[in-house]
Amino acid sequence: MDLTVRQMDADEFQRQRQEVLGQWQTGKDVVFEEAVAYQKSLPKSKVFAEKLAEGKEKGMTFAQPRAGVALLNEHIELLRFLQDEGGADFLPSTIDSYTRQNRYTEAQAGIEESVMIGRSMLNGFPAVNHGVAACRQVIESVQVPVQVRHGTPDARLLAEITIAGGFTDFEGGGISYNIPYSKDVSIESTIKYWQYVDRLIGLYEEQGVKINREPFGPLTGTLVPPSISHAVAVIEGVLAVAQGVRSLTLGYGQCGNLIQDVAALHTLPVLAEEYLAKLGLPKVMITTVFHQWMGGFPQDEAKAFGVISWGAATAALGKATKVIVKTPHEALGIPTKEANAAGIRTTKQILTMLKDQTLPMTEELALEEEMILAETRGILDRVLDLGEGDAAVGTVRAFQAGVIDVPFAPSRYNAGKILPARDTSGAVRLLDFGNIPFDKRIKEFHRERIAQRGRDENRDPSFQMVIDDIYAIGKGMLVGRPRG
Ligand code: 5AD
Repeated sequence: MDLTVRQMDADEFQRQRQEVLGQWQTGKDVVFEEAVAYQKSLPKSKVFAEKLAEGKEKGMTFAQPRAGVALLNEHIELLRFLQDEGGADFLPSTIDSYTRQNRYTEAQAGIEESVMIGRSMLNGFPAVNHGVAACRQVIESVQVPVQVRHGTPDARLLAEITIAGGFTDFEGGGISYNIPYSKDVSIESTIKYWQYVDRLIGLYEEQGVKINREPFGPLTGTLVPPSISHAVAVIEGVLAVAQGVRSLTLGYGQCGNLIQDVAALHTLPVLAEEYLAKLGLPKVMITTVFHQWMGGFPQDEAKAFGVISWGAATAALGKATKVIVKTPHEALGIPTKEANAAGIRTTKQILTMLKDQTLPMTEELALEEEMILAETRGILDRVLDLGEGDAAVGTVRAFQAGVIDVPFAPSRYNAGKILPARDTSGAVRLLDFGNIPFDKRIKEFHRERIAQRGRDENRDPSFQMVIDDIYAIGKGMLVGRPRG
C-alpha cells in the first residue's frame, strides 16, 4: 500500500484538487488566494481556534448545538435563533445525508422540493450545492464561529467549499467518519481522503489562517470504552498534524459514569500530546469536546432534559473546553429551533452554576485515569508496531487485526469482536476483549468489575447485560439491571 503518515506530496495534492473541484459546479468558485484573504478578513470573534484558546486559558466550557436545514435563509434564521435565544457560544452547520454521501444531484432535488413545499426536506444544510458565496452569507449573519459538522467519508469538496466560505472548523476524520457511518468503504481510502482535508487546512495555516479540526469522538455512540475512542482520536490527531493542522479539538462521548467520564476528559489531551511528541510532530493547540449522551433518548421531554443535564454537569466538572448539546426532541428526530435552544439554555445554566467546581482527585478517579492511560497506550503502541512506526499504515493493519475494534459499527473493515458492558457503577468495561491488546492486569480489572455487577444482580455476566445496557436509558436507568 502506498499509504503513509507523511505529508502529502504537493503535486499529488494539486492533481486531486483539479478532480475534487470538478465534482460539482460550485467547485469552480473556490480560489485559494482569495479564500485566504476572506478568512483573514474575519474578526477574531468568528475564528474557532481563537475563541477555543481563550476558553481553554480561562478554564471555560462552551456550549454548541447541532443544526442544519435545507434552505439558506431558513438556515441563517435557525442559527441566529440558537445564538440569540439559546446563547450558543459556537454554531454548527450540520450537513444533510445526501451531501455526506457526495450525492449532490439528489441534494439539489431536496433543495428544490423544500422551496416548493415550504419546509426543509433535507436533514441538514447542503453546503456544497449552496456554494462559497452562500456559506459566506451564513458566516456574516452570525456573531460566533461556525463549524461544519457532518459524517462524510470523502469530505474533500465539502472542505474546499466551506473553508473558502469562511467556516473556521471542520469535524471528522478518516476513521471516525468511516467506521460508524459506512459499510463498504476501506479505511485506507478514507485516511487518504482526510489527509487531503488536513493538507488543505495545512496550506491555509501556512498562509496564517487558523482552521480548527475536530475528530468525531463518540464513534458509534453507545458503550464505546474511553480507551478505544481515545486511541482513534489520538491517531486522527497525529494524521492531521502530520499534514499541517495546528489546532485540534479532541472529542469524547459521554459514557454516563461521572468518574470514568471525567477521567476520560483529563487523559485525552495528555495522550495526544504524548504521542505527537513521541512521533516527532510539533506541539499544537489541543482542546477537548464532550458529547452529551449519544445513545438512545427517552421520548418524554422532561426526562430528556435530565439526560441533557447530566451531560452538562459532567462536561463542566471534567473541564471540557466545549460541550455538544442534545435537545428534548432527540428521540423524535430533527428538533425544532425552540427545542434546540432549550437544550442549550439547560446546558448553559448548569455550566455557569458549576464553573467554579471541579471533581477532586480521589483514589478512584486516579485509578480510572491510570487504566485509561494504560489501555490507550497498549492499543496505540501496538498500532505503531504494526505500522513499523507509521500511524497510517498501522491503523489499517490494526483494524484488520481487531487491535482497534469499535463496538456496534456497521463497517466490514471493523472486526466487531469486542463486547462492552457496564460495571455495577455504570462505567463501560469489556466483557469480551476480542483482539484488543490489553495486558493481564487490565483484563483482570475489567473482569473483576463486571463480576461484581454479576454478583449484585445475581446473574452470570453475559450478552444479556449488553442488551439490557443498550435499552437502559430509555427505561430511566444507566445500568440495565434485570428487574429495574
Ligand atoms: N439538526 C439538528 N440536529 C441534528 N442531528 C443530526 N442532524 C441534525 C440537524 N439537521 C443530530 C441528531 C443526533 C446527532 C448525531 O445529530 O439528533 O443527536
